[in-house]
Amino acid sequence: MSQQSFSRGQWKSRVGFILAASGSAIGLGNIVFFAANAYKFGGGAFYLPYLFALFVFGIPVMILEFGLGNFTGRAFPESLHRIAGRKGEFVGWWANLNAGFITMYYITILSWVVGMLFGAFGALWRDSIPVPAFGMAEGDLANPYAYFFHMLSTWKPIFYVALVWIFNVVIVRRGAETIESATKVFVPLMWIFMILLIIRGVTLENGIQGVYLLFTPNFEVMKDPAVWQGAFAQTFFSLSLGFGIMTAYASYLPKKSDLTSNSIITSLLDSGFAYIAGLAVFSILFAFAIVPQASTIGMMFFILPQGIGEMPGNSVIVFGVVFFALLLLAGLTSSVSLVEALVSSMRDKFGWSRKRTIAIAAVIGFAGSAIFALPQVVNPGLEDDGTLGLTLLDLFDHWAFSYGLLIIGFCECILVGWVLGADKVRLHLNSNSAIKLGAWFDVLIKYVIPLALLVVLGYSVWGEIRDGLYGSAFTENYSEGFSVLRFAPRLALAYWLIICSVAALLLARRGSFAKAD
Ligand code: ALA
Repeated sequence: MSQQSFSRGQWKSRVGFILAASGSAIGLGNIVFFAANAYKFGGGAFYLPYLFALFVFGIPVMILEFGLGNFTGRAFPESLHRIAGRKGEFVGWWANLNAGFITMYYITILSWVVGMLFGAFGALWRDSIPVPAFGMAEGDLANPYAYFFHMLSTWKPIFYVALVWIFNVVIVRRGAETIESATKVFVPLMWIFMILLIIRGVTLENGIQGVYLLFTPNFEVMKDPAVWQGAFAQTFFSLSLGFGIMTAYASYLPKKSDLTSNSIITSLLDSGFAYIAGLAVFSILFAFAIVPQASTIGMMFFILPQGIGEMPGNSVIVFGVVFFALLLLAGLTSSVSLVEALVSSMRDKFGWSRKRTIAIAAVIGFAGSAIFALPQVVNPGLEDDGTLGLTLLDLFDHWAFSYGLLIIGFCECILVGWVLGADKVRLHLNSNSAIKLGAWFDVLIKYVIPLALLVVLGYSVWGEIRDGLYGSAFTENYSEGFSVLRFAPRLALAYWLIICSVAALLLARRGSFAKAD
């Protein structure tokens, strides 16, 4: 099987590649996670660390991931295998498996977006609906809060999960070719929807005040390491770094591509989108005196929709539909890149047909996404997570997002910087790029980025030891009727670590790679 030769495919044009790469980067992370983090870390306090993280970490790692994929013409595990043998390959698979967890819950979140999109045509804007599973009568909870939790306490999201997986399968069915066709429509639409929301937001009375809040710097909070941890994790997630996505995407580019410029354009499109999304979110919330939420789920599903619900007349339905359609489009162009990164890695290794590889990824992925959509109510008070699926999602997100991506960032810098030699990738990049990278790039990859990531990771681990494992406080409160919940934080950590490490080890030890045309 591994000697079978297969065709990897290529992007048809540079514009197609940039649309696909920026479509991957721009996702839920830009639209709501950025605004929620900005609020959590004090509004304007966040954008400076984020900007710093973008230029010092984000863009160089994006250049590195593009360079790696194009230099080797392979997805993440094989690229890293070529640098450091089986140890490198282990890191590549570990990244893919960590990304696999993110893919599963990312698609669950998109399934909730589908449910809310249906609701946005009407039911979402009624004053209230009962949420019987949580023991609440009509009037106890205002919409869209009630609508969201009511939906979560039913099995409907499982159907939506299946629907979103089908969308993904259809879009990735012929790899770069079909992804390019979809992103050529989806990405421009996304920008149009976003611009519509901004115009609506800043033209609302007092809306512009929210924008001032977003852009008022607060230097005090920058002393807090948590702000930096938040900015780094957000930068990696938002730019789709540490997943193996950008390496897989760049492996479908011709060898003579200008990768440095492509990296800079993709990164700036991504952060530009996050900032303008911040304009829309903060202006709508401020106009209706709604307090934002640090919870990304809360911000996306009920805080911002609550603001939209305050708009006059029919614009509620129009902007509600625009908002959820925007989330769906942006999320899909990201989720297909997550799926493609996995498919690409598996095909490099086993030489399977696309059909077979996608079928395996989709069946396993659907099962995982369905677990995050489990409707059992664990917290009838709704102070925290509410359902079992959402609690599990919260726990896995903590490990895969806040730790996994940064761990991979650290490992890839070490492998490229020290084992291969950052100068080798730099020479490859410079040979075709209009912008020439200097020796400073090597210094960033070898010293600055890994050291900073190590400090941030170390600080996070210390926080875990000092304050207790993430999620413990919540699950202890709500584990009476659901005793397995008490162990959920430890089980989630163990499961995440064991699956990523053991499966990566088995894959890295197994045979050789397939030959590609
Ligand atoms: N980069 C993607 C996002 O921001 C994963 O949602």
